[in-house]
Amino acid sequence: MAATAVNKLPDSAERGVVIPDNWPGYPLDLFTFPEHYSGDLDCVYIPHGVIMDRTERLARNIMDDLGDRDIVVLCVLKGGYQFCSDLVERIKVLSCNSSKSLLMRVDFIRLKSYLNDRSTQDLQIIGAESLSVLSGKNVLIVEAIVDTGKTMKTLLTHVRAFKPNMIRVAGLLVKRVPNSSGCLPDYVGFEIPNRFVVGYALDYNEYFRDLNHICVISESGKQKYKV
Ligand code: HPA
Ligand code: MG
Repeated sequence: MAATAVNKLPDSAERGVVIPDNWPGYPLDLFTFPEHYSGDLDCVYIPHGVIMDRTERLARNIMDDLGDRDIVVLCVLKGGYQFCSDLVERIKVLSCNSSKSLLMRVDFIRLKSYLNDRSTQDLQIIGAESLSVLSGKNVLIVEAIVDTGKTMKTLLTHVRAFKPNMIRVAGLLVKRVPNSSGCLPDYVGFEIPNRFVVGYALDYNEYFRDLNHICVISESGKQKYKV
């Protein structure tokens, strides 16, 4: 069994929706997307509606586990903003319609490590000084994507230093990579093959955040927005 960041969950829940290596995605002409990205994408990998449906279920799992507590949601920017916003919204709805109520504060931290489609060695954590508010709190870290898990490990070390009462991690996507650190989120939306994806706030050099679906970028898209 793989090691989780914090607590163990059953394996099926741990991996989320598993997208196999041979998944070709959907043809682009079956969906709508901004005209300015035509030619820059290979396929729609995860349609927006599917992301929303999976997020709704993650919100329920989180409510079941953490309901009736006060939590601080720590959104990992920039890529996590859309997932965090939608996840918090779903938790709010569940909290209103349930006997359990979850008081949420939302805070933000910014991490930067990618240039083009490659991870760089130096991870920058921006806003780490504000983490002192996490002391003694129940923290839910919300990230868009976990690949090697190194970024998550570094972030967890930083957050733990402020002695929170509890830490859970929600990750929308986990990539199957050969060099995984084994550090996995407690709540996983989708486990995906090792491909560079964009959309739903995930970027390639700051582009494609304004795309609703999670898509695979084309070679010409990579060339067009390369720095
Ligand atoms: N897309 C965008 N950002 C990322 C990815 C990805 O596939 N992996 C790590 N950061
Ligand atoms: Mg990025």
